[in-house]
Amino acid sequence: MEIETTALLADYEHVRKLAMQSLFQSLDKFSEGTVIVDRNARVVWINQHYAARFGFDDPAAVIGLDCESVIPNSMMRDVVKGGEPILLDILETDRDPIVVTRLPIKDDNGDTIGAVGFVLFNELKGLSPLFSQYARLRAELISTRQSLAQVRRAKYSFSSLIGTSAASLEVKRQARRAARLTSPVLLLGETGTGKELLAHAIHGASGRADGPLVTVNVAAIPDTLLELEFFGAEPGAYTGADRKGRIGKFELAQGGTLFLDEIGDMPLALQGKLLRVLQEQEFEPLGSNRIMRTDVRIIAATSADLPALVAQGRFRADLYYRLNVLMIRVPPLRERLADIEGMAYAILDKLSVESGAGHLELDRDALAALCSYNWPGNVRELRNTLERAVLLSDSERIDAHVLARFVGDGREQHRAEDEARRALGAHGGQVAASPDLAGPQRYEDAMQDFERRFLTDALRAAGGHVAKAAARIGMARATLYRRIVALGIEV
Ligand SMILES: Nc1ncnc2c1ncn2[C@@H]1O[C@H](COP(=O)(O)OP(=O)(O)O)[C@@H](O)[C@H]1O
Ligand SMILES: [Mg+2]
Repeated sequence: MEIETTALLADYEHVRKLAMQSLFQSLDKFSEGTVIVDRNARVVWINQHYAARFGFDDPAAVIGLDCESVIPNSMMRDVVKGGEPILLDILETDRDPIVVTRLPIKDDNGDTIGAVGFVLFNELKGLSPLFSQYARLRAELISTRQSLAQVRRAKYSFSSLIGTSAASLEVKRQARRAARLTSPVLLLGETGTGKELLAHAIHGASGRADGPLVTVNVAAIPDTLLELEFFGAEPGAYTGADRKGRIGKFELAQGGTLFLDEIGDMPLALQGKLLRVLQEQEFEPLGSNRIMRTDVRIIAATSADLPALVAQGRFRADLYYRLNVLMIRVPPLRERLADIEGMAYAILDKLSVESGAGHLELDRDALAALCSYNWPGNVRELRNTLERAVLLSDSERIDAHVLARFVGDGREQHRAEDEARRALGAHGGQVAASPDLAGPQRYEDAMQDFERRFLTDALRAAGGHVAKAAARIGMARATLYRRIVALGIEV
């Protein structure tokens, strides 16, 4: 037994050596080029064909030269230094790019003493099945992206803005006018009134429609990171996890529109910097001395009472005036009751398509209930309410009874508080009590379920107003935003 194993091992060793030898020989034979370098990345050996490719008729003439002076763009030095192979790479040459593989050569101690490089294909044609597949996928990706962009544009165009009330028509008229002009736009209105939708429509109908629309939600980003978010940073400009540098939103929005949502939440110091950028039309990424001209149109929005913030000294008057060139006040839903029916049906139609349900209808008394409620969360709350009503409804007709839970009794102030209490009480109990048919739920999943429900209810109780909800449940605003994103909660 013992002898057999030893013989076998010796045999294996023999086979391994042969394999290595023949591997090298086949690579050398089939390869269009081979090069070997020493531990200083100097050429030790290169075959004639490869040397000729780089313009050297006599391979012997390049022995001892730095590999880069023979093969421009060579990465052999990296392999020698790092001791790690680069199994597949594309090397740009002054003719066609070639496909290469590079392996370190180690001594018995495992130290790297050189490296060997092979050309696997001396033209990418050899890889054409792979590349045509790649090219096809790429073309598909581009066309998908284009149609997605088209859908997006349609989704956020003026025609997708629902509302035929006098107030809505006036908002649309002002927004169309703003689209034709180039000054900053300021959108004022309660949360959920459609400010973001309008910003998209204005961008899409403006001369910058082919440029990017970049959004910064000022309320969602911690104060300390806002400046970085806006202006970006050079690599190594600041210490911390992200040393790679970062492109700021101003730079990303070049040639397009920068939508500054919840601008009322912007810290005073940054307001000053933003004002300077707007005045001078240039900015400097953090830690750089690169001055960039801005070619960005600003659309700002807020649900805060901006003039009041100015009066309290919490928003700079000069920035306010700078932004307030084209101001559009978006009225709350309760001031455009004539829109409710059309909006409700547009939402229901979408829901029936999404859920595959039949045609959804509103009872007359249901419509009356929707019209007598005061909608602190505006269109967003209307959508959430209808979504929940559809879920609760047994039939495809939604009646006032189902809606009563959300909008029914007309005592909205109490409702919000009840909701908050319910969020804590009923749902807290529900998690503990709900028996999972598939066996016990994992602790983490249960906690996530609870958190999602708790935050959803807290948001709904605050009419979709994140800052308000955060204050009520004693959570930092930015933290709440992060959790909303992480848990995929619809606001
Ligand atoms: N006029 C409108 N027509 C159709 N949908 C609207 C309209 N206004 C708002 N919405 C919808 O209501 C929700 C909230 O709108 P959004 O633009 O995010 O509001 P805001 O930015 O003012 O908080 C979105 O789902 C949006 O599509
Ligand atoms: Mg918004």
